[in-house]
Amino acid sequence: MKENILLIGFMGVGKGTIARAFAREYGIYNIDTDDLIESKENRRIPKIFEKFGEDYFRALEQDTAKWLEKSVKGTLISCGGGFYKVDNINKIGKVVYLDAPFEWIYNRLSTAKNAESKLAKRPLFQDLKKAKALYKERKKAYKKVADLIVDVKDKDEKQIIKEIAKFVGIK
Ligand code: S3P
Repeated sequence: MKENILLIGFMGVGKGTIARAFAREYGIYNIDTDDLIESKENRRIPKIFEKFGEDYFRALEQDTAKWLEKSVKGTLISCGGGFYKVDNINKIGKVVYLDAPFEWIYNRLSTAKNAESKLAKRPLFQDLKKAKALYKERKKAYKKVADLIVDVKDKDEKQIIKEIAKFVGIK
């Protein structure tokens, strides 16, 4: 696989889970933009938001996007929920939007084994009303940059990764 694949979508939709399953099945590497930022800053996301604010975090995402475009090939990249805003996303690789209703996402997060930590590590998921408004606001924007939209509700992991593999031409 020469091109990168980027998984985008709302917080908690399962980008990381799908990325790991895909990487294992097709023998490729996957990286995560939040992990890259945390290791570069040597701070967790909530700390970065708390200390420097959201704009600073968005600038880090843009720097990361430039680096990905220049330096990374043939990799599956799972993206933070706001990463779609970087101005070069479509130059990094094929963009796959994982879509699901807000209620499904919230249910997935809140019934997870480690629900508390899953919610705590997401500063923009602290207030349910605000998170829902953000979801509404972003839905169109995700679709706009997507090369493929995958509806993940009612599908199992295997089906989802097959759909993505088919689209990018992996057998
Ligand atoms: C964000 C999503 C988070 C993380 C940060 C901001 C967002 O990533 O990048 O908390 O703006 O939607 P996940 O989508 O992996 O939760």
